[in-house]
Amino acid sequence: MEGINKQVEKRREAVKRISSAKKITALTGAGISVACGIMPFRGRGGLWEKHDPIVADINYFLEHPAKSWAVLKEIQEVVEKALPNVAHFSLARMEDMGFLSSIITQNVDGLHQEAGNKVVIEFHGNTRRMICLECKALYPSVEISLDSLPPFCPVCRGLLKPDAVFFGESIPTAALLQAHVDAQQCEVMLVIGTSGLVEPAAGLPFLAQKNGACIIEINPEETVLTDSVTDIFLEGKAEEILPLLVDELSAINEG
Ligand code: APR
Repeated sequence: MEGINKQVEKRREAVKRISSAKKITALTGAGISVACGIMPFRGRGGLWEKHDPIVADINYFLEHPAKSWAVLKEIQEVVEKALPNVAHFSLARMEDMGFLSSIITQNVDGLHQEAGNKVVIEFHGNTRRMICLECKALYPSVEISLDSLPPFCPVCRGLLKPDAVFFGESIPTAALLQAHVDAQQCEVMLVIGTSGLVEPAAGLPFLAQKNGACIIEINPEETVLTDSVTDIFLEGKAEEILPLLVDELSAINEG
């Protein structure tokens, strides 16, 4: 753990870069929702420590929908009850103040929109919706009973799947294109709560940096990005660091 002075100095540098940039994009991952009670995927206490990630593989899902759904149901129930935390609200405040142009999120919990962010690119979809794999109808997940698994489409009886990107599936085209544009155009990219291990999202900070952006990473632990692409590493939890940044940015905004 760094000394307190070093941390303050790095935070000041981050605020300076953010406040002087015209376009700022955030790339978020599971870590930003940990304080909401939603477990991350990797690391201690992660979902993939408890369950085999194969349940989120599209081919396995198609062959064994009931087995996949038994795990997915657990995730659905946690996500449906979750509320945004102070880290989500901090990003909403940054957007309001003009210090955040967009969020590219790998999360499927819809909590950035719930917190009030208007420009959110759902890179991996959103599990608050379900899609019928036959007729492609979309349903709010809360309207679908999971008492009997797997759930089927109320209209055509096709298999329902969370409208999230599974392993083996492509990123939705519009989200992929917009994420590339934002990564290429931003002057600062905030990389928050992601292990940076899953492509193609993990490539976005590299794309941003290649186009001249400053990469500010917020994470309690160093990641594969920290030594390779990060310019300013703010060590700590998103729910602790982001409110501090917002306080300093508010002071600049008012001053
Ligand atoms: N604040 C910020 N970061 C945190 C916090 C916190 N409170 N708690 C944990 N983290 C960090 C961890 O240190 C880790 O680096 O969040 C990161 C979570 O990493 P992953 O679980 O790998 O999540 P993510 O990077 O979003 O995963 C990418 O993998 O399985 C897929 O589709 C899934 O979108 C997901 C993708």
